Amino acid sequence: MEYVDFDIVILGSGIAGFVSAINASEVSQHLNIAIISKLHAMRSHSVSAEGGISGVLYPGEDSMDLHAFDTIKGSDYLADQDAVEMLVKFAPQEIKFLEHIGVPWNRGQSGKINQRAFGGMSIPRTVFAADKTGFFIMRALYDEAVSRKNITIFHEHFASKLILKNGKFEGLFVINLATGNRKVFRSKSCIIATGGASRTFGFTTTSHSSTGDGTALAFNAGAALKDMEFIQFHPTALVPSGILITEAARGEGAYLLNSKGERFMKDYAKAKMELAPRDIVSRAIITEINKGNGIKGNYGMDHVMLDLRHLEKSVIDSRLPMISEITKKMLGLDPSKEPIPIRPAAHFTMGGIHTDKNGRVLHANNNAIEGLWAIGETASVSVHGANRLGSNSLSQCSVWGKIAGTEAAEHALSIHNKHRASDITEIVSEEDKRLNDMVEHKGSKSPYDIVKVLRSIMDKHMYVFRTMDSMKTAVVSIKSLIKDFEDVNVEDKGTVFNTNLRDTLEIENLLNLALVMATSAVSRTESRGAHSVIEYPDRDDANWLKHTIAQKKGNHVNLSYIPVTITKWKPQPRQY
Ligand code: FUM
Repeated sequence: MEYVDFDIVILGSGIAGFVSAINASEVSQHLNIAIISKLHAMRSHSVSAEGGISGVLYPGEDSMDLHAFDTIKGSDYLADQDAVEMLVKFAPQEIKFLEHIGVPWNRGQSGKINQRAFGGMSIPRTVFAADKTGFFIMRALYDEAVSRKNITIFHEHFASKLILKNGKFEGLFVINLATGNRKVFRSKSCIIATGGASRTFGFTTTSHSSTGDGTALAFNAGAALKDMEFIQFHPTALVPSGILITEAARGEGAYLLNSKGERFMKDYAKAKMELAPRDIVSRAIITEINKGNGIKGNYGMDHVMLDLRHLEKSVIDSRLPMISEITKKMLGLDPSKEPIPIRPAAHFTMGGIHTDKNGRVLHANNNAIEGLWAIGETASVSVHGANRLGSNSLSQCSVWGKIAGTEAAEHALSIHNKHRASDITEIVSEEDKRLNDMVEHKGSKSPYDIVKVLRSIMDKHMYVFRTMDSMKTAVVSIKSLIKDFEDVNVEDKGTVFNTNLRDTLEIENLLNLALVMATSAVSRTESRGAHSVIEYPDRDDANWLKHTIAQKKGNHVNLSYIPVTITKWKPQPRQY
């Protein structure tokens, strides 16, 4: 087995991962930093971010307190308010940093950076680069990272195990996909930044790589997960593919119409209309469809319409060019002439690895795991609570990229030996054997059949509206799929680009996370943010103003609860 030593290893190569690497490198050019990506890093899901990044750029017109309040109200009061205060305080400087490394923010005639309206925000606060914001940010970050001599990117390397010993991070067990060679990356500090797990669902806006690998690895290694029942459904996913039609379209003035041609949001959020938070808009769309006001159309999926026909062509061309590109390519539809068929799709994992407010990974008892951080969608810090506001995720990735990158660097500098002294050979051999057994086993179950069933369960039972029965069914069905997985067959027995083995490991991660999502959901007998339970339609602060903490105990998911941090915003009824 090959062992490679670094000062800092970053697992994941999206915006959070790159920002953390650059900030760690900024602390000292003598630190050796590795980024491990299961894809070519530039194919990370962050490149698909469309609408923008939030932050208070012009105080006077806007304020930190207002951004914090919008975020907390949007979260249905489940966000930790001290973390939200950090988000809003540091977001503006991260937006400026991104510009300094080359992100071309849209600007007005006067040179002022444009900000557009997004759901649940009191004023336009979302900074953007057309509707390709994630692509421009990733390109700038990638260029910056490769220009730094102390950052090495390992493209197409898949981590199958996070190695902890005696409450400390020790290493990552990694497969080089090109060769099949297995290596252990040892380091003094590790940052997990592998993104969300929306591919537990079939109908999703996310790329095929959003399989929550880092979250699952941390859970398997003994870290706790927080608030995994809260999954965001983005209201406007293109039917039938699920491709994201950015909220920026509504920010620029697009309408939502039902089959009668009505702007139905007037019945659900009179003041904010189409720019209510995503949980409310998604529920409104599904309610309309359930009332018979949806459209059957040609696509085999009931949907409503997103109408851009009244927008100036120049607005579509300069601020939403990708929307036209997507609808023309996918449906042969010109959005300036025809409305777009949309419905809600799984978009964002609000929960994630339980961390403190600096991104340090915690056990269920709140003890930190030494040398380990988690950031971005992988983590729950928690700034999004039960419902994230659009464009707050890119700010979260950037802000905690900086915080964790800096801390991880300082931690690595404080350790003088070359790498940790603990003997991990037994854990490494066990993982090597587990992978060999998985490949050699002649199983009867295809991983692709298993994941197909998983996604249909999640789409059916864990969608926008849930019932106690649907969630119980999800738990039982996922457990049965986990049992099936014991007899999984990896068809490809080879080593070179064994994507069949990689897919199987991703599917294992999805199964484990789906079980945590469903178990956490069925236990929360209230409706809050994106978790909407028919039998318990109201938010119940007396019993449920608390975070769900999930920890692995053998094959079981153990749940406990911890309080939400409230600083100055007392929970109130949420009206828009
Ligand atoms: O609709 C969007 O552009 C998505 C943005 C986000 O999820 O923050």
